[in-house]
Amino acid sequence: MVPIKTVAVLGGSRNLGSSIVHELLSAGFTVTGITREASTSSTPTFPDSVPIKKVDYTSFDALKAAFRNQDAVVSVVGVAAAVVDQKIAIDAAAEAGIKRFIPSEFGINTRKLRPLSHSLRKILGDKIAVVNYLEEKAQEVDGFTWTGLSTGLFLDWGLDDSGLGIINLKDKTATVVDSGDEKFQASNLAQVSRAVVGILKHPEATANRYLAMASFNISQNELIAMVEELTKSKLAVTRVRWSDLELAGELKLVAEDGPAAFVDFLRVHTSADGAGNALSEEESANGLIGLPYEDVKSSVESWLRREGAL
Ligand SMILES: NC(=O)c1ccc[n+]([C@@H]2O[C@H](COP(=O)([O-])OP(=O)(O)OC[C@H]3O[C@@H](n4cnc5c(N)ncnc54)[C@H](OP(=O)(O)O)[C@@H]3O)[C@@H](O)[C@H]2O)c1
Repeated sequence: MVPIKTVAVLGGSRNLGSSIVHELLSAGFTVTGITREASTSSTPTFPDSVPIKKVDYTSFDALKAAFRNQDAVVSVVGVAAAVVDQKIAIDAAAEAGIKRFIPSEFGINTRKLRPLSHSLRKILGDKIAVVNYLEEKAQEVDGFTWTGLSTGLFLDWGLDDSGLGIINLKDKTATVVDSGDEKFQASNLAQVSRAVVGILKHPEATANRYLAMASFNISQNELIAMVEELTKSKLAVTRVRWSDLELAGELKLVAEDGPAAFVDFLRVHTSADGAGNALSEEESANGLIGLPYEDVKSSVESWLRREGAL
């Protein structure tokens, strides 16, 4: 396979997107930012060296034109509507001669949802359908390939109330599911971005595969102990049983609060006793893409510094 040199990043204007753009540039790729006409966040957040193309994500023609002369597309689109629209972007990419499409996965492994998580499967239905669609497209179109990437929880994004709400630094509280000992897959944003670089630098080994990587596995209790040690203060811990949290999520779904329900289901999926969603060595693609694991304690410390808690 010819090396990948030019990369279009779709929806790359916010947290994960700007980190991916930064790592791609550092690794020597030529990057183009694809952003919506309606985007309010885009222009100032891309570095000056990155050309920006404003397109309607639902327009096949506009996307195809924007993808011309690119080797790869990395999609970081966020909201549910934009996730479905990736099918149009995939069609456009295949027609434009794109060699690798990385869909906006970047979370739990949507190829491995345990049977219990029926509601989670429903919420993630669009993401699952997009990967199914990529599988079909790669069989139909010669030279078109894809890679999905599961990252687990973004540790430096998702611990507090903007994410999974495990730890509230302001109130010095923590909420723990079950015993708190279950380990789960977690990644820092920069590590996720380096994984994207690793995929594009190893195009043959990563073609048409759903991969999973991590910075490390960690449990809720380990996190809390580290936060307490580093901040030299105790957190008041509330415990919740996974079955109560699952029920709370179902009730939120009935009340049409999908995002809040998603958080409850995610916490059950990652942290319930016996969940089994730590990244195993057999599953891990870190070695394949040349990505060393990271140190848990220094990651927690960096997060605490950024949050002003140290
Ligand atoms: N593992 C984790 O803990 C974790 C946490 C958060 C997110 N994620 C995953 O990371 C990916 C990015 O999520 P995010 O929350 O970071 O996304 P986001 O910031 O909400 O949005 C990313 C991009 O999507 C585009 N976008 C936003 N609203 C849109 C709309 N209404 N229609 C079309 N496009 C829209 C925007 O691009 P433009 O403005 O440039 O057009 C935006 O920069 C998703 O796959 C998400 O599931 C994982």
